[in-house]
Amino acid sequence: MSEVAEAVSVLAAGGVIGLPTETVYGLAADGLNPAAVARIFAIKGRPTAHPLILHLADASELDRYAREVPERARRLAAAFWPGPLTLILERSALVPDAVTGGRSTVALRVPGHPVALEVLRRFGGPLAAPSANRFGSVSPTTRAHVLADLGDDVPVVLEGGACEVGLESTIVDLSRGAPRILRPGRVGSLDIERVLGEAVLGDDGDGPAAPGTLESHYAPRARVVLCEASEVVERARASTEAKVGLLVDDACQVPSEARLVVRRVGGTAASAAHELYAALRELDEAGVGVIFAEHSFGGGRARTGLDLAIEDRLQRAAAGR
Ligand code: TXA
Ligand code: MG
Repeated sequence: MSEVAEAVSVLAAGGVIGLPTETVYGLAADGLNPAAVARIFAIKGRPTAHPLILHLADASELDRYAREVPERARRLAAAFWPGPLTLILERSALVPDAVTGGRSTVALRVPGHPVALEVLRRFGGPLAAPSANRFGSVSPTTRAHVLADLGDDVPVVLEGGACEVGLESTIVDLSRGAPRILRPGRVGSLDIERVLGEAVLGDDGDGPAAPGTLESHYAPRARVVLCEASEVVERARASTEAKVGLLVDDACQVPSEARLVVRRVGGTAASAAHELYAALRELDEAGVGVIFAEHSFGGGRARTGLDLAIEDRLQRAAAGR
């Protein structure tokens, strides 16, 4: 049996699999089977009030799982799906309470990864999937990350390479009229405004958080300190920790000192997003007590898209656990 065929049979039996997507790896189960969805929460150790995203094979399925599909949703789906955008809509009666935590809305997305799409098509139904990490830790962007976190509980984790985007999807709430960003991701407010021709709310880091989004959600074990690129080296050297991590871009010059552990994430926002979670994990594994991270990578400080998403995740990591 091929790996995908095995994964589909596990899903059909109400089981849970590790599923690569273009953002992060997901922990997927049959989204219409409450017992299967309950297994996701049990494995992750996640409070059941935190709603899950329902992943679809195609935008044509919007009408099955949303009670009303506003014109805005159709336009965003046409522009960005398959891709790293999640839409919050009023749910249809088909969506179980287990997925939405009893809310009247549901989060829907068509992932832009060939393996995820093949599994969705062959399974023939929607898959509920949060990120495939233990609750509160850094999201996985490789199969090895999933196995390290959840390998004992999830026998099938499909290989899909390192996730292209590397940060979770943008979440846009369309259930209350004007579009509102609940979680920044690669699809930024400017991208959305270009498609809809209207202003988007809440893409400024001050907007309302998605329900169940904790400050500490993306935290590694080590403490994270955000600094300006110009002071990151100085502050790391001044630290009294035995081992000190630096998360910096390619341009940063770091003197070689045995106790400094340097992890570079390239020179652009795209490379930094792609590398960020793997870098936090590696610094944890190196045993650093603290991580000094540059505030903005590749010089970018755009208030939208990946720049904002990176800053959002770093700020949450810095908020600690
Ligand atoms: O990129 C992603 O979105 C990844 C991949 C696997 O698709 N998934 C992911 O899932 O990040 P998770 O469970 O880690 O985050 C889903 C977020 C949560 O913050 C949750 O609060 C929000 O989606 N969410 C889900 N349903 C919602 C709803 N009805 N209203 C508002 N927010 C919702
Ligand atoms: Mg998550």
